[in-house]
Amino acid sequence: MIAVTGAAGKTGQAILAQLVHHEVRVRVLVRRPEQAAVLTSAGAADVVLGDMTDPAALARLLDGASAVYHICPNLHPAEAEVTQAMVTACRAAGAVRLVYHSVLHPQTEAMPHHWAKLRSEELIFQSDVPFTILQPAAYMQNLRAYWPAMTAEGVYRVPYAVTTRIGMVDLRDVAQAAALVLLDSRHTYGIYELATGERHSQVEVAALAAQALGRPVRAEAVDRAQWAAAARRNGLGDGAVDILLRMFEYYERYGFGGNGFVLAALLGRPPATLPTYLAQLAAGG
Ligand SMILES: NC(=O)c1ccc[n+]([C@@H]2O[C@H](COP(=O)([O-])OP(=O)(O)OC[C@H]3O[C@@H](n4cnc5c(N)ncnc54)[C@H](OP(=O)(O)O)[C@@H]3O)[C@@H](O)[C@H]2O)c1
Repeated sequence: MIAVTGAAGKTGQAILAQLVHHEVRVRVLVRRPEQAAVLTSAGAADVVLGDMTDPAALARLLDGASAVYHICPNLHPAEAEVTQAMVTACRAAGAVRLVYHSVLHPQTEAMPHHWAKLRSEELIFQSDVPFTILQPAAYMQNLRAYWPAMTAEGVYRVPYAVTTRIGMVDLRDVAQAAALVLLDSRHTYGIYELATGERHSQVEVAALAAQALGRPVRAEAVDRAQWAAAARRNGLGDGAVDILLRMFEYYERYGFGGNGFVLAALLGRPPATLPTYLAQLAAGG
């Protein structure tokens, strides 16, 4: 039995699909009853309803599990506390390997959500819980949010300079690697960067989208203050807006991306490239 937290999110659902593909029994943690039905129909064998910080819910989740895939919710204001609750639950359960969904370059203090994951990694090292840590790059699937404007208006609007170079990874490759790692205890104590080695400027992303769609798409930088005002109007909290603004500034200044060697070795094939992903997106995938 493999346990998965954050299972109803986009990462969790991708991991569940891969584990189901491997015919593994999966127990998921969700906090809303309607999410239980969705994940059961996606193949989860067992659903625990509860909060990620509740020791009783975590004990139910880990009962009889050989490993847990721990996904902290995106931009959670207390990620280290959430991880500490999971570490404590793993210690109490005994013999559970903790596979932690971190992020590429958690060592980046200028991005608070990355820095929080570094602290979580440290908490895991300091426990005596067997672990594996995966550090994925930004997902190619994030481009879905920009796709309606790219297709309808031919504009790819980003809150950083269009020369900013970013390397993205296909979430399906991340999920496939995660499933392989969960099912093979030889990965215990491994820390793996999951990236492709590509870095594209936003001008190049727009050109690749244009190629995939067969019509023009241009990249355009939007003012970050305007971006923040729109994000707040759409209900994003001040804390999350601040973190994302810092991330955009960091991206613009330094770029962001990793190396594809480890992911290729895990998958036994090269990771998906951005042109391939965009072609699939344009074809409705
Ligand atoms: N997006 C990227 O490019 C990227 C790249 C690398 C790493 N990551 C990391 O991937 C992780 C997952 O991101 P995601 O976008 O897939 O996650 P997400 O959409 O935020 O999903 C998290 C899930 O956890 C649930 N949840 C929230 N708080 C909970 C709580 N207290 N107890 C139980 N469940 C709770 C949410 O339920 P509700 O629906 O009820 O809120 C949601 O179903 C994040 O840590 C992020 O930093 C993301």
